[in-house]
Amino acid sequence: MSSIEIRGEAPCLRSQPPIHSGALMDPYSDARKPLREAATLPADAFTSATLYEREVERLFLREWLCAGRSDQVPDAGDYFTLDLLGDKLVVVRGKDTEIRALSRICRHRGAELATGSGNARSFQCPYHSWTYQLDGKLLGAPHMEGVQGFDRANCRLPRLRCEIWEGWIFVNFDADAAPLGPRLAPLSKLLSNYRMSEMIAVETARFDSPYNWKVLTDNFMEAYHHIAIHRDTFEPIFPGAASFAPDNEGPYAVLNMPARSGADGAENVISPLPKLGELDAEEEARLVAVSVFPFHLFVPAGDLLTWYQILPEGVDQFTLKIFSCFPKQTLDDTGHRETVEGVQAFTRHVHHEDIAACEATWAGLMSRSFSSGRLSMLEKPIWQFNQWWTERMMGED
Ligand SMILES: [Fe+2]
Repeated sequence: MSSIEIRGEAPCLRSQPPIHSGALMDPYSDARKPLREAATLPADAFTSATLYEREVERLFLREWLCAGRSDQVPDAGDYFTLDLLGDKLVVVRGKDTEIRALSRICRHRGAELATGSGNARSFQCPYHSWTYQLDGKLLGAPHMEGVQGFDRANCRLPRLRCEIWEGWIFVNFDADAAPLGPRLAPLSKLLSNYRMSEMIAVETARFDSPYNWKVLTDNFMEAYHHIAIHRDTFEPIFPGAASFAPDNEGPYAVLNMPARSGADGAENVISPLPKLGELDAEEEARLVAVSVFPFHLFVPAGDLLTWYQILPEGVDQFTLKIFSCFPKQTLDDTGHRETVEGVQAFTRHVHHEDIAACEATWAGLMSRSFSSGRLSMLEKPIWQFNQWWTERMMGED
């Protein structure tokens, strides 16, 4: 059996007492220190199935989660299905133009009412033909006459709370959750020039990601790794060392990545496509990555809005869908098709670079010889997330 060689500081095995005093009392005390002194979340926060269940209870079932874009259901009757945290949903635009997120499980025997996406006038169960309106109300249930106490009028598909923010459809499993809009109002103001709500999403890639969701959100929220993982793609234009993140009070982090002096701005680097809005000089000369906690990730760039949709499936598994969102005129003009495809190919290429980083990180987090590490000052968005995460994860049930 070969021994593991570990250079530098003596290893701290996770089965041994933690390196920092007080960590036994509070496993997150080092992550909660000021940024200059802070460590990453401990490896268990990424690998423990018990902690994942706690995340489901404390974060996912209480926070606003992104289900899709309103432009994915532009007309009455348009719908798409979504599996979210083991629940089976259908997101549909009603005849009254309102977008609703409903359970797509028939109230009769639990069969699925819809698959994929499309346009429907109603949802009919393939099993016994129970039929529901687009707002979830039961329209018909054959041969149920004489069934005592069957309240046809009040039989409807369960509905999740739904809120539209900047074109995204957010849902919440918690009926008592505070509205999302006011919490993100400063972010809307900050990003108003990008006119994100007018963008139209095109699915660019889908990845089965066999690691914890935070491995990717951490990767997404810092540009420090441009110097290595993206040395040939992002680093020549958006050097990691120049990136910075402002303080804010909201449940989000904003990473600014100014273009290298003398380099073309983001709009020329990624594509020459038409822009919707007028960006100011600062916006023209930078890339911005945003994370709305827990895992709504996007990069607005005027002509292109890149959006990562994370759908957690377990402690070590999530589906990642990457969308490239464009102004309608870009998609309507066939002259832009090649450039659009080039943008999508570049996006996939960049994510493959990030997959290498995520897989390497996951292997390390799963090993016995790593507990946590020190954050760089360039990793402030990770630290901001960690403050949000620990605050919600700590405390008695
Ligand atoms: Fe990256």
